[in-house]
Amino acid sequence: MTPYDSEPADRLVTAAADGEDQAVEAALRPKLLDEFIGQERVREQLSLVLQAARQRGTAPDHVLLSGPPGLGKTTLSMIIAAELNAPIRITSGPAIQHAGDLAAILSSLTEGEVLFLDEIHRMSRPAEEMLYMAMEDYRVDVIVGKGPGATAIPLELPPFTLVGATTRAGLLPPPLRDRFGFTGHMEFYAPAELERVVHRSAALLDVEIDPAGAAEIAGRSRGTPRIANRLLRRVRDYAQVKHDGVVDRAIAAQALQVYEVDARGLDRLDRAVLDALIRLFGGGPVGLSTLAVAVGEEAETVEEVAEPFLVREGLLARTPRGRIATPAAWQHLGLTPPVQTGPARAVSGRGPRGPVPAQSDLFGAVEEP
Ligand SMILES: Nc1ncnc2c1ncn2[C@@H]1O[C@H](COP(=O)(O)OP(=O)(O)OP(=O)(O)O)[C@@H](O)[C@H]1O
Ligand SMILES: [Mg+2]
Repeated sequence: MTPYDSEPADRLVTAAADGEDQAVEAALRPKLLDEFIGQERVREQLSLVLQAARQRGTAPDHVLLSGPPGLGKTTLSMIIAAELNAPIRITSGPAIQHAGDLAAILSSLTEGEVLFLDEIHRMSRPAEEMLYMAMEDYRVDVIVGKGPGATAIPLELPPFTLVGATTRAGLLPPPLRDRFGFTGHMEFYAPAELERVVHRSAALLDVEIDPAGAAEIAGRSRGTPRIANRLLRRVRDYAQVKHDGVVDRAIAAQALQVYEVDARGLDRLDRAVLDALIRLFGGGPVGLSTLAVAVGEEAETVEEVAEPFLVREGLLARTPRGRIATPAAWQHLGLTPPVQTGPARAVSGRGPRGPVPAQSDLFGAVEEP
């Protein structure tokens, strides 16, 4: 499943899990909090919540984990259960169509069990309302019958811990959000953290890799462990088929060039957008639909699939007058950004930082090894 319907199915740098990811992820998931790399703040806060609950011998507060796909929400929820030595029940918002589905799950929980509700923002309204009461009072009302004769039979639940995960925390109704005692916001990973993820996964997959090779993969992984693991697998294939299986910087770079993932983690689509924006429209501003036609994609694909990462990387800006390429985008394509004057600078909101480097410096800076 991809987060956007408009995303090409075979995209190597998608943060969403494909079939292969799902098959191998179980083996690559850290099992305990100490093995979980990065997310220092969430990890420390969570560790306190769990320790305190263990000391008191009670189920901890309900936990909400929010953040973009592939950053470790599912992994953390399983760690929570493991750290509590508690069983875990796994379900998801879309799987709960009716309140009755949820009632069936809740009423079969055992004391202290962890209920992991993935994509909690996609639960139906009636189920959501049932969940409010279950979270707060450990009770559900099971409705028997229909119409005026319907009666609500209250059902006591054992204390349990709900762990909700969402990529869209903003879509959660406030009453639901407020019922979580702890919310962990997952952030994109720093390159050094992703290097550790790559080393760890390489060890589990029996891939020999040197530090420069791991750094090369980490730098192209868009801050996302799932992408780092996927790129590692493609690099492993290349190293095995074309070389002796050992991964160093040159082999990682060559392999990812074959798969069209560049030094900053941009793929063919991302680069096509920047290329059109700069070479056809002089860096913009240009409207989304025009830009989409120029790259031969749907406007939705450009907006939802390519742009978020380009904006995050500071390569593209959305302005009221249209999309513009930032000086960093020109430099990334090995071009000299035009010297901006007053109005353009005001539109972009970010003037060029310092003098524009000479063309030769730029090529030196962006050229691949
Ligand atoms: N901190 C981490 N340390 C090591 N590996 C990690 C870490 N976070 C995530 N991973 C790896 O990344 C993969 C994806 O993580 P996970 O499935 O937990 O992401 P998610 O946030 O649940 O994504 P989604 O929103 O798509 O459900 C896992 O296979 C796991 O091995
Ligand atoms: Mg998940």
